[in-house]
Amino acid sequence: MANHHLGFDLGHADTAIALASGRETERFAAPANLEVQGQSIQPTALARIKREGKEVLVVGGRAIREVSKAQAQGNAALKAAFKTRPKNLGAATADLQDFFRTMLEEAAFDPAPPEGWAGCSIAVGCPSSWSAEEDARAYAEILREALAGTDMAKAEVSVVPESRAALLQAIENPNSPLTLEARRENILVIDVGSSTLDMSLIAPEQKASPLFDAGLDLGASFFDRRVLDAALADRSDARGFLELNPHYRDLWLYYARRTKEQFFIDAPHDDEEPISGAPLQTFFAGGQRQSLTIDITGEEFATLRRAPYDRPLNPSPELSLDPAALQGMSWEEIYEAALTALREAIARRGSAYGRVLLAGGASRMPFTEEIAQRVFAHGPGDTPVLRDPEPSHMVSRGLSRWSRRQESVERFAVAARKLMKERLPELASENFEPLKDRLATALAGVIFDRFVEPVLQLWKDGAFRTGRDVRAEIETRTAEWLASEEGTDFFVREINAWWREEVKHELDRELDKLHAAFDVSRDIQLNLGQAIDPAVFRFSASSLDLPFEAVIQAALLTLAFAVTIAIDAHFGFVPITTGALAAAVAVGGKPLRAWIARIDVPAFARRLPDRLPGREQLFDARVRARVEKQLGQSVEKARRSILDQIEAAVAASVTQQTKRARVLLHGEDGNAR
Ligand SMILES: Nc1ncnc2c1ncn2[C@@H]1O[C@H](COP(=O)(O)OP(=O)(O)OP(=O)(O)O)[C@@H](O)[C@H]1O
Ligand SMILES: [Mg+2]
Repeated sequence: MANHHLGFDLGHADTAIALASGRETERFAAPANLEVQGQSIQPTALARIKREGKEVLVVGGRAIREVSKAQAQGNAALKAAFKTRPKNLGAATADLQDFFRTMLEEAAFDPAPPEGWAGCSIAVGCPSSWSAEEDARAYAEILREALAGTDMAKAEVSVVPESRAALLQAIENPNSPLTLEARRENILVIDVGSSTLDMSLIAPEQKASPLFDAGLDLGASFFDRRVLDAALADRSDARGFLELNPHYRDLWLYYARRTKEQFFIDAPHDDEEPISGAPLQTFFAGGQRQSLTIDITGEEFATLRRAPYDRPLNPSPELSLDPAALQGMSWEEIYEAALTALREAIARRGSAYGRVLLAGGASRMPFTEEIAQRVFAHGPGDTPVLRDPEPSHMVSRGLSRWSRRQESVERFAVAARKLMKERLPELASENFEPLKDRLATALAGVIFDRFVEPVLQLWKDGAFRTGRDVRAEIETRTAEWLASEEGTDFFVREINAWWREEVKHELDRELDKLHAAFDVSRDIQLNLGQAIDPAVFRFSASSLDLPFEAVIQAALLTLAFAVTIAIDAHFGFVPITTGALAAAVAVGGKPLRAWIARIDVPAFARRLPDRLPGREQLFDARVRARVEKQLGQSVEKARRSILDQIEAAVAASVTQQTKRARVLLHGEDGNAR
């Protein structure tokens, strides 16, 4: 059981680590980013530096600086851009592992949880387009292996889609730009990253079912490559140097990226003004020390915005995008095509979206928002796209929330099941008496309306030859009714009404305590407004152990009364022929069965009046009371089988509802990655 939850956003360009404590009352109740080397965001970079014959690992910004110094001496190399699908990692696997471990070691994490790393769980993000079964699972293995043999191996490591994490952050963060109203609708999160474009649609507070995750390998690092190309365009000496020293490439790409960012920060009006975010790069060529300026002008940038994208896109199948059709398109054209494909995929699924949240560092490029507004506008003038104020921290914080949420949901599910197992049978059993009365009363009504009255009509019309026929008719009707939807609905309705009146309030009190104890948010709280949710549990009236012979007897008894009264009414309430019948009826049981078997039905039918007396008369209080008593005994005998079905129905509802919470965390396939 973890008490500290780390969210590790290992991005292609940048890495951030957030911490959330297990309980709301502790420090880090709200996730906060941990600093590594005094900064909450570090470039995803690793350097292996040889010092005194030993290899030292340096990560982040320091790696870049150290390498810039040491590279000139040829004893260090920068490793960056190692975030790719595990199957393509190859030799970079070790870089990824060393980076992951060293970042964790360096994360300012003080004081460590009392349980040490055993009290930590670490959620690491992966792009949406990675498959759960293959990519994410293999990635988790690689990351676990990275910690093997260290104290950190005690921590739990899981891999979670980044856009899912961003979404959780968007929903739960009190400073989220999503209003409460916006959170009621489906939300679309678009994470514009350095190597991937990730998209996730979710209905957070309704049925909490993520409709889907999708993505493709469209990354903003494309511009970094183009900026470097532009800087090298008229520098054959630098190009030659790079050919001979390929390990310089990652460093120069890093500075090209900084230059790109500076360009967007400065947004120069003058198209010819060169902008740079990089120090002068020195290198040796032709035995001479040379220097390279990595800069870009507005004019050059406009050209590279139109350049064709240079990497395989691997769009996820949900988007129905043909990679061949995207060939030769620019970054922005592909971005627009992907968003449009997403919009169409949502429509194809018969679904919809409300607000669109842009996340990821590259969403700072203004055209990402402009295009998204255009694609997702619900009508003219509509601007559904919002930008998170801290796009670079969304994923790491969301990941730590994910980890905490996952833990609390699992613990909550266990506690809820335990509560149901321990408290529910007791509560239902204690309150069985009112259920029995309610069912007996309602069943008596059904018997009269569904069996007695129509049979009486048929009898009057001379439809039966003997009493046995009458009995058979009632038996058939009872069996049919019990197997029918109407029969099932009857029990479900009565049991749910009883549940609301007698059981729910008591159970709610206990559930509220659980919700508070596990910090379960509103959208995934258990709601047991009914005992039997027909959508989740199939209640079966015909499999109840209700002694149906007794039900049939009750029907015959009612029928006998009704016949007596009808005949009495016909003869002006003078009981002539009905003496024997009245006696049989009064005694019930065997004499009644004997009477029913012997009775000459056609003769009776002839004596029945044309118009039968009304329901009130035919089924008066005296008859009712007697029938209800008999039915009550019958329900009592079925006590166990009724309670069993109620308990099974509630258990199914709890399972279904906790599954909803899991779906929010793991996606529709329910796969933990
Ligand atoms: N001010 C800025 N203007 C333009 N781009 C920026 C700015 N700041 C950061 N970026 C870009 O954002 C990207 C990094 O964003 P982010 O950290 O979300 O990606 P990542 O998580 O590293 O990548 P991925 O999610 O693909 O693994 C980089 O391409 C970076 O250059
Ligand atoms: Mg990212």
